[in-house]
Amino acid sequence: MSQIPTYSPIDPSPEVLEFLAARRSPSAKLMEGEGPSAQQVDEIIHLAARVPDHRKLGPWRFIVIRGEQRAELGQYIGTRFKALNPDLPLDRSVFESARLLRAPTVVAVVSAPVECLRGTPEWEQVLSVGAVCFQMLLAARAMGFAAQWLSEWIAFDEVITAKLGLSGREKIAGFIYLGDSTQGLTPRPRPDVEARITRLGD
Ligand SMILES: Cc1cc2nc3c(=O)[nH]c(=O)nc-3n(C[C@H](O)[C@H](O)[C@H](O)COP(=O)(O)O)c2cc1C
Repeated sequence: MSQIPTYSPIDPSPEVLEFLAARRSPSAKLMEGEGPSAQQVDEIIHLAARVPDHRKLGPWRFIVIRGEQRAELGQYIGTRFKALNPDLPLDRSVFESARLLRAPTVVAVVSAPVECLRGTPEWEQVLSVGAVCFQMLLAARAMGFAAQWLSEWIAFDEVITAKLGLSGREKIAGFIYLGDSTQGLTPRPRPDVEARITRLGD
């Protein structure tokens, strides 16, 4: 997107409302095709980064995993899995090695909180990275791609996160799998929102 359009905050957008009401995540394991190009991935990331961010700290960063890097990192994941689970059959580590191959692009979204002397609490910085992940799903979907937000054990394993270059207080907020999909998505049961609303006033 070469130019960022500006909108009046009060412009209604029924298309966006419809889009949000129908939003679902296609499954990464059923993704197919080439998905977004490298340039389109960059575009998705730039759109995803346009989130509320108290004091403009940018407490997030992105690791884009594509092509053969998925298999190479996958080998590392498989070996790590075997080391953690020596008694499980070999086919389990082979399965783990293929995790990143489910989609042509996997973006690791990293929570990278910064020391903010002016007082943006880490909690707010973490909320901002959650918004980045969700906006990435929306941006990808609006560009016609499939996107799913997964964590799985690899997000929490410190050997794997170190291999990805995370340090200090950094954490994986999610792996966003990006590809193509022809999956027909039906609504899924949702939590009872009404039961979770407290109304004060009219
Ligand atoms: C932080 C986070 C981590 C998630 N990790 C997983 C996961 O590891 N495995 C999984 O099946 N779904 C995971 N999900 C759920 C999916 O992203 C998604 O919500 C679900 O597949 C279907 O919901 P949707 O169609 O409403 O998006 C995660 C969601 C969030 C917010």
